Amino acid sequence: MNLNNRVVVITGAGAGIGRACALEFAKAGSAVVAADINWEAARETVNTITAAGGAGLAVETDVARPDSVERLAAVTLEHFGAVHALVNNAAIQVSKTVADTTFEEWNRQMAVNVGGVFLCSKHFLPALRRTRGAIVNLSSVNGFFVEPMCAGYCATKAAIIGLTKAMAIDHGREGVRVNAIAPGYIDAGLAESYFQVQADPSAARAAAGKLHALGRIGRPEEVARVALFLAGGDSSFMTGAVVVVDGGFGSGLPPAG
Ligand SMILES: NC(=O)c1ccc[n+]([C@@H]2O[C@H](COP(=O)([O-])OP(=O)(O)OC[C@H]3O[C@@H](n4cnc5c(N)ncnc54)[C@H](O)[C@@H]3O)[C@@H](O)[C@H]2O)c1
Repeated sequence: MNLNNRVVVITGAGAGIGRACALEFAKAGSAVVAADINWEAARETVNTITAAGGAGLAVETDVARPDSVERLAAVTLEHFGAVHALVNNAAIQVSKTVADTTFEEWNRQMAVNVGGVFLCSKHFLPALRRTRGAIVNLSSVNGFFVEPMCAGYCATKAAIIGLTKAMAIDHGREGVRVNAIAPGYIDAGLAESYFQVQADPSAARAAAGKLHALGRIGRPEEVARVALFLAGGDSSFMTGAVVVVDGGFGSGLPPAG
């Protein structure tokens, strides 16, 4: 599918990787529905798109709430009439061990990170069946290669891999492709929130770069370009895949220095 004149819904499009996806899809000619719990941030994303001559709509959405996601789907279809791609990107990170995580924090993180993928996929699948569209889910290298102090977050990112594969086999015959991206550290909000809870945040940031074979953390647009590929026709025989975009993070520890 050529993404020109197509409609893409991106959750968490007000910041970081989600915003980069919004700008990348808009550059490719898609109309972008920027769904974010932070409406001001989503509106800023859309303002950037429309200032460059593109089309967009900001919709205040809490992906963890069924009523909010139902409204997102209704407003999107009312406004654009069709949906060709859904990027399930919104997530939060509780940077704690299981021992320190409260039950409320656990539930909220599960509801946003996994429940959000479920709810948005559920409510956009009828429209995606009609266009033989695509879903792109943001997992993480932490879905299979974990780190300290983010147990619940790692669990949500692993769950997204399972959900991606399950939806791929359930909906492949309907023409809907479902893939996931597993980024390494990316210079965006969730990595920053993880650095901030370490004893020395700037040292943690520098050390994170050194964990990657390429010697640096990634940029949001380096993930967004892969999302664009997975949503479009160039990946037409890909479904159920987890594409690792990690600068070599998962390949092993690079030489010191
Ligand atoms: N930054 C990284 O290093 C990294 C690495 C691997 C995977 N990821 C994944 O990429 C995605 C984006 O991460 P990021 O670092 O760009 O995040 P970010 O914090 O920069 O942006 C997340 C956006 O999601 C929105 N959001 C939060 N809760 C929401 C909710 N309930 N409903 C709707 N919107 C909500 C926020 O308002 C924000 O605009 C996440 O799924 C994350 O797990 C990030």
